[in-house]
Amino acid sequence: MPPDPSDPDVLYTSDLHGSRTHYEEAFRLAEALGVRAVVLGGDLSPMGDPATQGSFHESFLVPFLRDFLGRPGAPEVFAILGNVDWRANESLLLDARIPRFHYLHSRVAPFLDGALIAGLNCVPPTPIRLKDWERWEPEHWESSRLDGFRSAPDGSLYPFTFAGRENEESLEADFDSLEAAVLAARGGSAAGPLVCVFHGPPFGTACDQITGGTHVGSRAARRFLTRVRPMLSLHGHIHESPAVSGRFGDRVEGTVCVNPGQTPAALHAVTFRMDDPAGSLRHTLLGQALLDSEAEPR
Ligand SMILES: [Fe+2]
Repeated sequence: MPPDPSDPDVLYTSDLHGSRTHYEEAFRLAEALGVRAVVLGGDLSPMGDPATQGSFHESFLVPFLRDFLGRPGAPEVFAILGNVDWRANESLLLDARIPRFHYLHSRVAPFLDGALIAGLNCVPPTPIRLKDWERWEPEHWESSRLDGFRSAPDGSLYPFTFAGRENEESLEADFDSLEAAVLAARGGSAAGPLVCVFHGPPFGTACDQITGGTHVGSRAARRFLTRVRPMLSLHGHIHESPAVSGRFGDRVEGTVCVNPGQTPAALHAVTFRMDDPAGSLRHTLLGQALLDSEAEPR
């Protein structure tokens, strides 16, 4: 049967946190819809130490992806890690060399229909101790903790603090590097279709609100979107944000920003078409996007 022009091209979900049922449901849905790409927005693993997460990758995620992506007509998968995924296990995903799997941290890759896709794992400081993918942002979440642990390639942990390391750990600098990579991939041109996937949502949107309504997103991410103007920017990290703001999508200048949210009880995912991401954006539980709703006070 020829593809229906109203069929979605992409399924995006985030913060699956090791839920096998969520992975299975998301990829079953991707197959049923016939999407050409699945994007995973980080926090792939269950909470736990590097060994626990490593065994999740080895016993479930790598074989699951290898099996799914080996099927005829399987979509491409694009993924980043998130702040609860220990960096020590990054090599498990990369070294597996799964066909059709693309790891995007700090990278720009070809996406669908001539577009590019750019990714970044990093978030501003948070209240948790796992600091592998946290970077400094001066106006961070007030209950953030500055000290914690990072992981070495052998899985051991070492103490880490942002104190005195603010310049070398700057989130703004990571976004500057990614902007340069986008410009290089565009062949020096400032324009061109681009999709971004950053674990942390941009500050001051419907996508970055914690319970009580406080915005805890990244100002550096917001500045990147304002400068670079991707057509779509995919996020996660703040699982409760759609429930708090009443929306899973918003706009920053010309960019449509998305945070599907997540719960252990039910898969939260979105789908969209590349020719009209804003008009075709749908949530598996919440329906059509209310991008221009006035419902949420700023
Ligand atoms: Fe998460």
